[in-house]
Amino acid sequence: MSPSNDARTDEFVFETYDEIREGLYHRDLTRKYDDRSFEEGNPRADILSMLHGSEHRERRRMENPLFRRNALIQYERDLFPEVLNNVLATQQHGPVDLFRLAGALSVVLAARRAGIDHDGTMEQLGELWDHVLMIAQASAILDQVGDKDKILSEVSEALVEFGREFVGPSQRRREQLLDAYEADGEPEPPDDLITTALGYRRDGRLELDDGIIIREAGLYLHGGSHTSAQTTCNTFYYLLGFDGRNEPHPVLERIAADPSWAQRAVHETLRLRPTTPRLQRRAVRDLTLGGVEIPAGSRVVFDVRTANRDPQRYGDDPEVFNPDRQLAEGTALWGLSFGAGSHICIGRSVAGGFPLQQRELRDGVGGEQHLYGLVALIVRAIAACGVSSIADDPPELDTRTDRGTRWARFPIQVDRTPATVALVTGE
Ligand code: HEM
Repeated sequence: MSPSNDARTDEFVFETYDEIREGLYHRDLTRKYDDRSFEEGNPRADILSMLHGSEHRERRRMENPLFRRNALIQYERDLFPEVLNNVLATQQHGPVDLFRLAGALSVVLAARRAGIDHDGTMEQLGELWDHVLMIAQASAILDQVGDKDKILSEVSEALVEFGREFVGPSQRRREQLLDAYEADGEPEPPDDLITTALGYRRDGRLELDDGIIIREAGLYLHGGSHTSAQTTCNTFYYLLGFDGRNEPHPVLERIAADPSWAQRAVHETLRLRPTTPRLQRRAVRDLTLGGVEIPAGSRVVFDVRTANRDPQRYGDDPEVFNPDRQLAEGTALWGLSFGAGSHICIGRSVAGGFPLQQRELRDGVGGEQHLYGLVALIVRAIAACGVSSIADDPPELDTRTDRGTRWARFPIQVDRTPATVALVTGE
């Protein structure tokens, strides 16, 4: 379909896979739609996802190493099983809010990656999750249906509290660890965002004030957990038949036994229910995209939800949830749901594992080095506990944005106490 231009707002909407990919690589399209500083009311000022051009490249160069392959494998093999056991041990069988449970599981790992210390109690994890829910409001500001300025000012206040309660103490501890390392050459400082940022600040490689570190840690905490919790719920939306099937999907049983089926189900879910259905950009100068002339200052919208249903790439039943889907060569099952180009999701391999392409779908995945992604491991662990829908208590969407893939709550019935189920996460 050709792009449409809404003359009133100078908004250009693209819906095809190839045009969107071209747009996401375009160097004259920025994610920066709010030029104000934090002090002037912009809670996202100077964070990675809002930077453009060389500033973005430099910050990304600092942060990419946090997602090295070895670090990801350690997350899946060592850290995740420990977190899973600790968090699930606190759960009872019976009704459970899956959104909050998946949030607690993801927030522990996101906090570890960001370098935010906590005492591991459900109270502190709950506090961190509340911060995530607040920061999530700013991250989706363009899709908010309420008073945007009010939301931004509430998030700014919450960030100050988040900085005081969590980032400040974590930062002070890491300064001491870096001092000790500089003096004695040991112990090795932790491999996390805050430590990395402090290291870059110390040797003058980047100018990062305390405010930027708080906001970047907030981005990591939110980016690493809210999307994962949503995607966990979105996957059970299909697995438990909330999509109109009204009965569990047959793949549910296979998932409990085999993480590669959990991974297929998660990728197929990401394709159909992207957490950000419309990626947005602003033209920094006049440009042409897909043969369309776009004046500087225009808003450009990439309708990923529609592009992910392209029949040429996903077959003649693109609306159907089918984790056994065959793909056109060179197409990822998750479509464009992690973005593409310079702002492609930095945590995509943590959350989604390695992209599944035609070869993996045909021959299966395997081997020591395969990454399933944390969302697939969460989905598998929860499926293994025996889950079902609750007839008179359906999931409720968070209607504060028009995205349609965010949940306010997602009640499910868990049949077996999670701690009693053997939750093997490898093969
Ligand atoms: C299912 C889980 C996830 C989904 C669906 C998701 C989705 C996305 C998307 C679509 C973008 C690009 C937005 C755009 O181009 O406008 C993005 C960027 C980003 N994501 Fe994720 N994400 C997920 C998990 C994670 C995790 C685990 C982290 C860990 C820190 C993370 C951190 C980030 C960051 C920092 C960016 C900004 C990158 C940049 O601008 O250079 N995300 N994510």
